[in-house]
Amino acid sequence: MISLENVYFSYENSPVLRDISFQINEKEKVVLLGINGCGKSTLLKILNGLIFPEKGSYYFKGELITEKKLKNKEFTRKFRKSNVLLFQNPDSMIFNPTVYDEIAFGLRQLFPDSIDEKVHFWAEKLGISHLLKRSPFELSGGEKQKVCLASILVLEPELLLLDEPTANLDPRSTGWFVDFLSELDITVITTTHNLSLAPELGSRVIVLSEDHNIIYDGDINSFIEDIDLLKKANLVHTHYHRHGTLKHKHYHTHDF
Ligand SMILES: Nc1ncnc2c1ncn2[C@@H]1O[C@H](COP(=O)(O)OP(=O)(O)O)[C@@H](O)[C@H]1O
Ligand SMILES: [Mg+2]
Repeated sequence: MISLENVYFSYENSPVLRDISFQINEKEKVVLLGINGCGKSTLLKILNGLIFPEKGSYYFKGELITEKKLKNKEFTRKFRKSNVLLFQNPDSMIFNPTVYDEIAFGLRQLFPDSIDEKVHFWAEKLGISHLLKRSPFELSGGEKQKVCLASILVLEPELLLLDEPTANLDPRSTGWFVDFLSELDITVITTTHNLSLAPELGSRVIVLSEDHNIIYDGDINSFIEDIDLLKKANLVHTHYHRHGTLKHKHYHTHDF
């Protein structure tokens, strides 16, 4: 479904992605792991066709994705329906007067067909039916997140890109989110910097380093057991502890 070939990207001459290549098959659940600033959000924006590689190629469903191609209305309509991104901050996505309008917006733009039925179906699935008449702006962070998720899932996409989706959720909502995700039968790529959450989000992990390249792509459990790789990704650090006169060394993950 996705093929990235030697992709590079920079912001104002500062490299953010270097020589990124991978392929992702339909219905795979992949975790994109790395510390802050390593380029995860930038990579999701490339996959969602919001920005374009400065070098290298990105193919989605066999089509080379270029700025020019996304100026074609018919191509864009199909692309935007099947390839959706949940931004890290739900506030940057909401702008409609009611939750109902928020969820219906994309459908009205792209596929104005059975709107009412689909909005109610996804609101029900996400447990937000009781909020449909409310203003999305006055909801809690977790509720906003669900509204944003409904607003993209209502398009029935083939690829769901999630940027640190649990960063603003409490443990109970995070648990709900993980279960919800595992039941979705589509391709999902989720970014996180949270090592202990990563195995809940997929079985394959692609790890970006601070140098903005891929240092691991494979089974997530093998990665988590490889202390040298974890150190290389800066996902663990060594800590000295004193217990009375005893001093010893531990590895710590950076999760809290
Ligand atoms: N619009 C932008 N303009 C300039 N620099 C940016 C922009 N967006 C991100 N960056 C920089 O690019 C690097 C990678 O950012 P990002 O992809 O957001 O990383 P991550 O999501 O892994 O934290 C960071 O150093 C960040 O400050
Ligand atoms: Mg980010």
